[in-house]
Amino acid sequence: MNFTGANILSVDQFDIDSIQTIFATADRMQPYARRQKRTKVLDGAILGNLFFESSTRTRVSFGTAFNLLGGEVRETTGMESSALAKGESLYDTARVLSSYSDVIAMRHPKSGSVAEFAEGSRVPVINGGDGANEHPTQALLDLYTIKQELAYHGHTVDGMHICMMGDLKFGRTVHSLSRLLAMYKNIRFTLISPRELAMPDSVLEVLAQAGHQVVITDQVSGISDADIVYQTRIQQERFTTPQEADLYRGKFRLNSEIYTKHYKPNTVIMHPLPRDSRAEANELDNDLNQNPNLAIFRQADNGVLIRMALFALTLGVADQVDKYECDVNWYSEKRTGY
Ligand code: NCD
Repeated sequence: MNFTGANILSVDQFDIDSIQTIFATADRMQPYARRQKRTKVLDGAILGNLFFESSTRTRVSFGTAFNLLGGEVRETTGMESSALAKGESLYDTARVLSSYSDVIAMRHPKSGSVAEFAEGSRVPVINGGDGANEHPTQALLDLYTIKQELAYHGHTVDGMHICMMGDLKFGRTVHSLSRLLAMYKNIRFTLISPRELAMPDSVLEVLAQAGHQVVITDQVSGISDADIVYQTRIQQERFTTPQEADLYRGKFRLNSEIYTKHYKPNTVIMHPLPRDSRAEANELDNDLNQNPNLAIFRQADNGVLIRMALFALTLGVADQVDKYECDVNWYSEKRTGY
């Protein structure tokens, strides 16, 4: 794949080689993300960070990644505060904002909206989540994390057993991650959800065609040898009414007791975050916070590296990052986790 000038809209754009390129570039971003050194490779460049739907870590990590490469960030948040609420088309918004920016990251509640926006954009557009459809940068950071965590235990992505749990119907992170994992070999997927929130057929077809083994269930069972458990949040914003989401909240929880009972001792615990910590949901209990297998914050940290890599690649500067390096002048504690 030729990254320079490319939009990043779907994981379907990638193959194993392009994933390797992104991950190798992300590895090289570590000293900058750890504030061991700085780079000004994107000095003067502007990121348009357009978030028309709620976000904390995706939005801020896109901005942080761009800043860490030396660029500036212009941001808009929420639908109501944008001209889209006045009836402006995505095409017009894209034509205008792309002349203010060198690259755009965008999140929007409607499936397909980021691709539609990209048609009007004159600069590369990166999908930060379009409705229940896709979240390609999250899938990349999830896979990057999975590889690291499994390598620590002497395992590989090929041949692993992953259990995905929760809202598999509306959760865009599990859609993109499954499609990305489909490119690897011989994976076992155990998909646990209420029947009404099962993984869409379009994703199951991709897994079946690639020859992976898939078990679909509404019971927490058959996972005693899972390498990864990937928990998700009930996507309340995608239901017709909040009451409908209430029916499913808290149905599949993970806490220390459940973990010890159902999983092997080294199963890696993942979640794209935010976890719903309200008592009626509590899908991933705080009593797992000290468990060394809890990878959720390592996952979030990796998001900065992956987004730095994507900016460097789409703007064609991936091999110049070190050329523009300089010292960090301020006090900076050694950071771990990246
Ligand atoms: C996810 C999302 O927005 O799809 N969050 C994220 O980007 N890390 C998951 C979620 O909101 O449940």
